[in-house]
Amino acid sequence: MLGLDHFGLLAPIYDRLFTAPPPYRLMRLLRLPSAGLLLDVGGGTGRVTAQLSGEVGGIVIADLSHGMLRQAAGRHGLQAILAPAERLPFAEASIRRIIMVDALHHVFDAATALRELVRVLAPGGRMAIQEPDWRLPGVRWISWAERLALMRSHPYRPAEIVQMVRQAGARAHCWAPGDRSVWIIAAKPHRGAP
Ligand SMILES: C[S@@+](CC[C@H](N)C(=O)[O-])C[C@H]1O[C@@H](n2cnc3c(N)ncnc32)[C@H](O)[C@@H]1O
Repeated sequence: MLGLDHFGLLAPIYDRLFTAPPPYRLMRLLRLPSAGLLLDVGGGTGRVTAQLSGEVGGIVIADLSHGMLRQAAGRHGLQAILAPAERLPFAEASIRRIIMVDALHHVFDAATALRELVRVLAPGGRMAIQEPDWRLPGVRWISWAERLALMRSHPYRPAEIVQMVRQAGARAHCWAPGDRSVWIIAAKPHRGAP
């Protein structure tokens, strides 16, 4: 991790501070169970996808924080790798499912990261990205506070994320469940499909 690893400092208590999205929602959005790998990008301690072991062929947590990855590596069924969202160590079209929760606004370059996610996603694969719904005034302050704490925090509107994913070559739409978060759901078309 370049600079101060804020998440590494929080890692030992992170899972007690934040509630994970419920597994039934993840199963529906990602159309699980599925064979193949589930890649959790910016997956931190693995608290989100640890709930899904048994529903996929394997789970890989990719993150930049050593502290967060240490927690993930200690969890049964998770493989933890140090890798930036902008440059994933996977072959093109090799991953069947991808998730990214509360991490896109923290990356160095969101457009590059989203292109990379779509690159590694297999044709017919699905991807779900959750972000705080920055359109809500009661949520926007979180990004200001993060920047005050010298963290990277770029509050993208859902329509901007949808557009970046489409430009990267996947279908995408957004869904707001009403809990101050928003999901961008994406599917990579099979080759030759419109
Ligand atoms: C708010 S935490 C969310 C962690 C996890 N997704 C969750 O919901 O529990 C954001 C995570 O993104 C990671 N992160 C930030 N920039 C990254 C990048 N460029 N590539 C990969 N991970 C990154 C941080 O290290 C941190 O673990």
